[in-house]
Amino acid sequence: MALAIKAEGIFKTFRSGWMGRKQKMVLKGIDLQIEEGEIFGILGPNGAGKTTLLSILSTLLFPDQGKIQILGMDGLRDGHRVRAKVNISSGNANFLWSLTVKENLHFYGMLYGLNGKHRAEKIKALIKLFNLEEHQDVSFDRLSTGIKQRLSLAKSLINDPAVLFLDEPTVGLDPSVSTTIREQIRLIQKERKMTVLLTTHNMKEAEYLCDRIAFLKNGEILITGTTKTLKRMTRMGDVLKIEFMGTILEDELLRAEGVINYGISGNLCEIIVDDLERRLGNVVALLSQGGAQIKKITLGQTDLEEVFLEFTKNTDSNLGLCH
Ligand SMILES: Nc1ncnc2c1ncn2[C@@H]1O[C@H](COP(=O)(O)OP(=O)(O)OP(=O)(O)O)[C@@H](O)[C@H]1O
Ligand SMILES: [Mg+2]
Repeated sequence: MALAIKAEGIFKTFRSGWMGRKQKMVLKGIDLQIEEGEIFGILGPNGAGKTTLLSILSTLLFPDQGKIQILGMDGLRDGHRVRAKVNISSGNANFLWSLTVKENLHFYGMLYGLNGKHRAEKIKALIKLFNLEEHQDVSFDRLSTGIKQRLSLAKSLINDPAVLFLDEPTVGLDPSVSTTIREQIRLIQKERKMTVLLTTHNMKEAEYLCDRIAFLKNGEILITGTTKTLKRMTRMGDVLKIEFMGTILEDELLRAEGVINYGISGNLCEIIVDDLERRLGNVVALLSQGGAQIKKITLGQTDLEEVFLEFTKNTDSNLGLCH
């Protein structure tokens, strides 16, 4: 499959203070490959460098070093052509505060060179898509955070981008508005088959939306992979709690494929497997054959948050990189 985004060896240092004497290296050699049609998440704590990386990949900021290809175009030399094909929405978006929702969208439509009739039609459709009808004539400074976010997303689709950058799309929103926005992102991405690169420090959001995830910390990518792979690599696994009667053949259980560990206390057996979906049937069959009568099964999956914490603890360990 073709790559939508390819970044190699991206470095960025910010200078501040008197004569720029204070230096901070914010990105330390980022490599990234994102396929067309993928939703890719960059996760990381505050100050990790997520927004800086997104700004560079969306051609808003130059790196000090490195190569960028967006949809086969050179992201550094061909910024103008790239910008016609991408767009960005930020959770902390700032629009012209005295213009209304509709006027702001017209403003951006004009910047993208959309002509009158086409622009008006497009804006009408975007207002409908993001349920902004009743807010369309309200000025930006009077909008709630959730509506600002929806405006920002509507604006980001004005040029039908093939690659969409989303910087913390649900930051500062209450859970129900966040859920709606996530569902909308997923739906729109499916419909338009866009490539989406989003940043978040919300693990649940990443797990719900992203095909693959990269953990960024102190300007370095610690690891890249699917949620499943990441969970497996940290060997945290999924938990299977089984209430039983009779006996459990412990040796066989430990030898069963995918079983990482287990513990038995009274009539409760807790088993950790690498992949719940794949191993459940086999483990249950094994226990039953061994003579245990199963009374109740409770399933628990490892949280991506736990994986992240575990992984950042293990930064210096020998876990390899996985793409
Ligand atoms: N224009 C700038 N000048 C100087 N330092 C900057 C500038 N922009 C960002 N930084 C610094 O670079 C580091 C990374 O910032 P960045 O905004 O990329 O992090 P982030 O991962 O997006 O954080 P957050 O989760 O808080 O949004 C921070 O220490 C920040 O203070
Ligand atoms: Mg940020």
